[in-house]
Amino acid sequence: MVDTQIVSLDRFIIEQERLYPEATGRFSNIMYDIALAAKIVQREVGRAGIAEILGRAGRTNIQGEDVTKLDVFANNAFIHAIEHAGNICIMASEENEDCIEIPEEYPVGNYALLMDPLDGSSNIDANVSIGTIFSIHKKISAGERGAIEDCLQPGNRQVAAGYIIYGSSTMLVYTTGSGVHGFTLDPSIGEFILSHANIRIPERAKVLSMNESNYPKWPKDVRSYADSLRKRSYTSRYIGSLVADFHRNLLYGGLFMYPPDSRKPEGKLRLLYEAAPLAFVVEQAGGYATNGHISILDIEPTELHQRVPLYIGSPFETREAEAWISGRKQPSTSAE
Ligand code: AHG
Ligand code: MN
Ligand code: MN
Repeated sequence: MVDTQIVSLDRFIIEQERLYPEATGRFSNIMYDIALAAKIVQREVGRAGIAEILGRAGRTNIQGEDVTKLDVFANNAFIHAIEHAGNICIMASEENEDCIEIPEEYPVGNYALLMDPLDGSSNIDANVSIGTIFSIHKKISAGERGAIEDCLQPGNRQVAAGYIIYGSSTMLVYTTGSGVHGFTLDPSIGEFILSHANIRIPERAKVLSMNESNYPKWPKDVRSYADSLRKRSYTSRYIGSLVADFHRNLLYGGLFMYPPDSRKPEGKLRLLYEAAPLAFVVEQAGGYATNGHISILDIEPTELHQRVPLYIGSPFETREAEAWISGRKQPSTSAE
């Protein structure tokens, strides 16, 4: 029996738009452009080994990290898919030190887009899952074209956020504040098809994801919390691509943590285009994300590339981590 009830991303976006009578369609067009860029990146990721696109681009980015050719390719793919359509007033990217202004020849729109165009770069050459993370805010600056304040907004003001995971299949998962929905790319028709409607994260984690090699460098309260977790029956999985670790934990139930350490006192992960968009997604799926003291979504940004400690995933463990690390309480023994 052929399943004719196929819901494509385009159809889903249109049906979602109808829920908002005041919608202009501008936001929908941004999602179409993101989906197009995702297909273009997926094509390169899928043939990276034969397309001379593996390896390093021979320079470092603002983060002081080696830039890979696929970082550059993905960054350009998303910028060029989005900048011309008149829906965005400004962009920010992990790969660009400053905001990316919309070229004068293009109209601007009422949204700002922030992105990690390629997350998990260190895994590219090993053919391990990688991803793209995006965050969308409403324009708040007074001028006709966008400004940095359109990017420096707290996560609780995001109008949409999501990610693409380039794995055994390619999935786009996003939220606009009405739940979290996952679409799987069907390469035979080049469409993202609704495969995971209304994703909900399990209340309790099954999986712990952390880079244990950093344990000796973590603050004492983080080490003692990690010790308490070891006394329970979790399994450990750490891919080293935030999007992949996050996506697995979202579906199975898990706690991902990247705490501060002696070398990185603010942690490694970036607030605006890693932590905040995934925090919006996880909260919409019933989970939580914290820096160890407050919700990631309530952090007021001061810089484009600022880093934050990140504890994200199932609500039980993430709220327990925050209570423990902030000194409010020790973990409940019932969790044993
Ligand atoms: P990016 O490739 O965008 O720089 O992100 C890499 C991040 C994140 O994907 C992952 O969770 C983390 O780096 C892994 O860091 P460690 O290798 O220090 O564990
Ligand atoms: Mn990243
Ligand atoms: Mn990246």
